[in-house]
Amino acid sequence: MVRFYKVYDFSKHGQVPQEVNSLRTIVIEDKKICLAHTQTGYYAVDNRCPHAGAILSSGWCENEDLVCPVHRYKYNLVTGRGKQGDYIETYPVEVRTDGVYIGLKKKWWQFF
Ligand code: FES
Repeated sequence: MVRFYKVYDFSKHGQVPQEVNSLRTIVIEDKKICLAHTQTGYYAVDNRCPHAGAILSSGWCENEDLVCPVHRYKYNLVTGRGKQGDYIETYPVEVRTDGVYIGLKKKWWQFF
């Protein structure tokens, strides 16, 4: 089960709260997530590169790929698949009428 967290509120942050072709670090419940805004929408992925641990939100977008700033490995923002065969985790993003939401799997204690 997924719980969605509002990360941008359009009434506070405006209709385009993050520039197109930009990356930001978003912290939800102590978890750091890289939020990308591209020409095709918003994408949320892990913020740590699986290769050597670089901060992915310090990288950049090339179409639907996220480029790691250290060794420039590329990860697809939709699938999380790296060109080298490794993966980063992806998270669901919903753009609703009032803002942008990222979904995280509920932890067991959140069911009670
Ligand atoms: S740390 Fe990201 S590609 Fe090496």
